[in-house]
Amino acid sequence: MNSSIYILVFVQLWLLSLPCRESVCIPSERETLLKFKNNLNDPSNRLWSWNHNHTNCCHWYGVLCHNVTSHLLQLHLNSSPSAFDDWGAYRRFQFRGEISPCLADLKHLNYLDLSGNYFLGKGMSIPSFLGTMTSLTYLDLSLTGFMGKIPSQIGNLSNLVYLDLGSYLSEPLFAENVEWLSSMWKLEYLYLTNANLSKAFHWLYTLQSLPSLTHLYLSDCKLPHYNEPSLLNFSSLQTLHLSFTSYSPAISFVPKWIFKLKKLVSLKLWGNKFQGRIPGGIRNLTLLQNLYWSGNSFSSSIPDCLYGLHRLKFLNLRANYLHGTISDALGNLTSLVKLDLSYNQLEGNIPTSLGNLTSLVELDLSYSQLEGNIPTSLGNLTSLST
Ligand SMILES: *[C@@H]1O[C@H](CO)[C@@H](O)[C@H](O)[C@H]1NC(C)=O
Ligand SMILES: *[C@@H]1O[C@H](CO)[C@@H](O)[C@H](O)[C@H]1NC(C)=O
Ligand SMILES: *[C@@H]1O[C@H](CO)[C@@H](O)[C@H](O)[C@H]1NC(C)=O
Ligand SMILES: *[C@@H]1O[C@H](CO)[C@@H](O)[C@H](O)[C@H]1NC(C)=O
Ligand SMILES: *[C@@H]1O[C@H](CO)[C@@H](O)[C@H](O)[C@H]1NC(C)=O
Ligand SMILES: *[C@@H]1O[C@H](CO)[C@@H](O)[C@H](O)[C@H]1NC(C)=O
Ligand SMILES: *[C@@H]1O[C@H](CO)[C@@H](O)[C@H](O)[C@H]1NC(C)=O
Ligand SMILES: *[C@@H]1O[C@H](CO)[C@@H](O)[C@H](O)[C@H]1NC(C)=O
Ligand SMILES: *[C@@H]1O[C@H](CO)[C@@H](O)[C@H](O)[C@H]1NC(C)=O
Repeated sequence: MNSSIYILVFVQLWLLSLPCRESVCIPSERETLLKFKNNLNDPSNRLWSWNHNHTNCCHWYGVLCHNVTSHLLQLHLNSSPSAFDDWGAYRRFQFRGEISPCLADLKHLNYLDLSGNYFLGKGMSIPSFLGTMTSLTYLDLSLTGFMGKIPSQIGNLSNLVYLDLGSYLSEPLFAENVEWLSSMWKLEYLYLTNANLSKAFHWLYTLQSLPSLTHLYLSDCKLPHYNEPSLLNFSSLQTLHLSFTSYSPAISFVPKWIFKLKKLVSLKLWGNKFQGRIPGGIRNLTLLQNLYWSGNSFSSSIPDCLYGLHRLKFLNLRANYLHGTISDALGNLTSLVKLDLSYNQLEGNIPTSLGNLTSLVELDLSYSQLEGNIPTSLGNLTSLST
C-alpha cells in the first residue's frame, strides 16, 4: 500500500516536471516568423499569438517544432473553403498579401501548407525562392491564386514526397515542360490539377520515370498530343485522375498505356468525351477499387470482364450511351459500396444477384430502360441508404 502511494507521488512529480522538457523556440526563427507575418494580411487575426509577448514560437498558431532540437519543422497555415458555408466568410478567413522570401531562412522546415489562401492578386506567380528550401518534404500551394509559369527552381526540392500545385478556380498555371520534376525521385504525390501543360510534349515520359510516384492528379489539365510510349515504368502508380482533361489535338479513345498500370487502385476519367466500347484492357487492372468513367460517350454494353474486378468499391458509369443488359455476374462485385449506372440506355431486368452486393450503400439505376420487377433480393441489402 505504502509503496504504491510512493509510486503515485513519484509519477505526479514526474508529470509536473514535463513542461520543462518542452521545445523552446529558437530566437532567430521567431524573428523570421515575425517578418513573414509582417508581409501577410490576416483579416481574421488567426496569427494573434504570433507576437513578442508569446516568446515561445513553438506554441504559435500553425507552428510545430522539433521536440529535441526545437528547430521549426512545420507550418500549417492552410484555409480550406470546404470548412465554410458562405464564400464571404471564407474570404475573411484567408491569409492574403505576400509570401516573404525570409521564409527560406527556416532551413529545417520540412512541411509547408499555405493552401487555400490568396497571395497577391493578378499576375503573381509562385515565388522561385521556394526552390531553395531543400528540407521540404511536403509542399501544398493549391488554391493560392498563383498564376503564370511554374518556376523550374521547384525542381530543386529533391526531398519532396508531396507536391500540390493544383490551381482549380483561378487561371491555370502553366509549364512549358515538366523536366524539372525529374530530380524528384522521392515524390509520391503529385497534383498539377488545372495546369496548362499543352507545350510539355514529354510529360508522360518524364512522369513515368519518377520511381516513387504512386498518386498522380492531372484532372482539368491541358495536355498535348503525345506518342504512346512502348515502355512504361510507372511501376507503382496507384491513383490516376485524368478527368475533364483536354488534349490538343483531341483524342477520343482511352489511352492504351493506362491499361498497363497494373497497380492502379483509383482511376478517374470523368468527362473526357471518350467514345466507343469500354476497352477490354480494363481486365488487366485487377486491383481497382474506384472506377469513375461517367460523362463520356461510351456506347457499348458493359463488358463481362468488368464484372471480374471483384475489388471494386465505387463504380460510376453514369451518363454514357451504354446499352444491353446488366449481367447476373454483377453479383460478383461483392465489395461495391456505390454503384451508379444511371443515365444510360441499359435494358432488361435488374439481376437478382444484386442481392449479393451486401456492402452497397448507394445505388442509382435511374434514367435507363430497365423493366420488370424489382428483385426481392434487394431486401438483402441492409446497408443500403440511398
Ligand atoms: C504585449 O504586452 C504589453 C504589456 O502587457 C501590451 O501593452 C502589448 O499590447 C502586448 N502586445 C501584443 C501584441 O499583444
Ligand atoms: C518527438 O515527437 C514525436 C512525434 O510526436 C515522437 O514520436 C517522438 O518520440 C518524440 N521524441 C522525443 C525524444 O520526445
Ligand atoms: C535550382 O534550379 C535552377 C533552375 O532549374 C538551376 O539552374 C539551379 O542550378 C538549381 N540549383 C541547385 C542548387 O540545384
Ligand atoms: C495554354 O498555354 C499555351 C501556351 O503555352 C497557350 O497558347 C494557350 O492559350 C493556353 N491555354 C489555356 C486554356 O490557357
Ligand atoms: C523502372 O523502375 C525501376 C524501379 O524504380 C528501376 O529499377 C528500373 O531501372 C526502371 N527501368 C527503366 C527502363 O527505367
Ligand atoms: C494486359 O496484360 C497482358 C498480360 O500482361 C498484356 O499482354 C496485354 O497487353 C495487356 N493489355 C493491355 C491493353 O495493356
Ligand atoms: C463470377 O463468379 C463466378 C463464381 O465465382 C465465376 O464463375 C464467374 O466467372 C465470375 N464472372 C465474372 C464475369 O467474372
Ligand atoms: C449470389 O449469391 C447466391 C447465394 O446467396 C449464389 O448462389 C449466387 O451464385 C451468387 N451469384 C453471383 C453472381 O455471385
Ligand atoms: C436474400 O433474399 C432472399 C429472398 O429475400 C433469400 O431467400 C436469401 O436467402 C437471401 N440471401 C442471403 C445471402 O441473405
